[in-house]
Amino acid sequence: MKIDGIHYRSVWVDRDDGWSVRIFDQTKLPWAIEILRLTDADQAAHAIRTMQTRGAPLIGAVAAYGVALAMRADASTAHLDRVVEMLGKTRPTAINLRWALERMRAALHNLSPADRVAAAYAEAAAICDDDVETCRRIGEHGLPLLREIAARKGPDQRVNVLTHCNAGWLATVDYGTALSPIFQAHDEGLNVHVWVDETRPRNQGAALTAFELVKHGVPHTVVADNAGGHLMQHGEVDICIVGTDRVTRQGDVANKIGTYLKALAAKDNGVPFWVALPHSTLDMRARDGVAEIPIEERAEAEVTDLTGRAADGRIETIRVVAEGSPAANPAFDVTPARLVTGLITERGRTEASEAGLRALYPEKA
Ligand code: MRU
Repeated sequence: MKIDGIHYRSVWVDRDDGWSVRIFDQTKLPWAIEILRLTDADQAAHAIRTMQTRGAPLIGAVAAYGVALAMRADASTAHLDRVVEMLGKTRPTAINLRWALERMRAALHNLSPADRVAAAYAEAAAICDDDVETCRRIGEHGLPLLREIAARKGPDQRVNVLTHCNAGWLATVDYGTALSPIFQAHDEGLNVHVWVDETRPRNQGAALTAFELVKHGVPHTVVADNAGGHLMQHGEVDICIVGTDRVTRQGDVANKIGTYLKALAAKDNGVPFWVALPHSTLDMRARDGVAEIPIEERAEAEVTDLTGRAADGRIETIRVVAEGSPAANPAFDVTPARLVTGLITERGRTEASEAGLRALYPEKA
């Protein structure tokens, strides 16, 4: 993603600054672009827990660098195990976190402590490079869906895509998952327009997806979360494409709270509902997503309060819920496979089913 003409990944290493790790503070976006400097695993864990960095593939990548930072302080096996466990507890729903940490442990475990620091940075970098290439290919495999709609509607009719939450550059290392086909479609000149669900309570759609689409010049409109059904009833949505934090082997999809309702509305209105995912989001150990995927319960304050930029430019948080009312904040929901038209992966598209996933990923046990 380009900001002020400079291409950035969403996580990188600053070798000239003691091999510290750099991320954007996503709690400040889109009002301020602040780059954070992480120098130890506790800082990486804090950044993930507080959602300074977020999005399923990205938290895996940052956790991997957290392991590298930890190895600099103490490269013993006991410390490796401790830090993998500590980072693994920062956020429960996205499986990419566990995937990245298991990959780091596997790469380092059999090495001597003296070799672990360099190997840890190399493995974390490989995870990032893998994610970038994976997301680019997800874009290539999603693009034909948008081309088909464009061909059907004609060049003066826009292709309306609805997306929920943020599954773009800021949720991955680059390009994104659900947004990757959209960026590619726009780049090749398709008349694509995105309905961006604001995505309460944290507004990742209004704040982050909209920010990315502005930076990339993609036409879009932010809508309240409850607008999707109405837009679909009136033929204003050609396709839904969302990201995901975990997909079970039968194709159930965990994603940001509210995704399930969009899938129900899509089914009722005959709108195709596609889910974009990298291999690191697959959890072949789980079958029934509703029963088996742990759903993160976040702080009440995310529901009761809203953060934004005041007229004088200050970033401000205000309470919008009646004093004395409690709030509940499940951060994700599960969309059953029966509501998913198909999955867009780096290996191609498939139906949301065990047969479909096993055909694409035969090596996954
Ligand atoms: O709670 P978040 O913001 O870390 O949620 C992750 C997400 O951005 C989405 O649910 C997304 O669609 C999956 S990540 C590509």
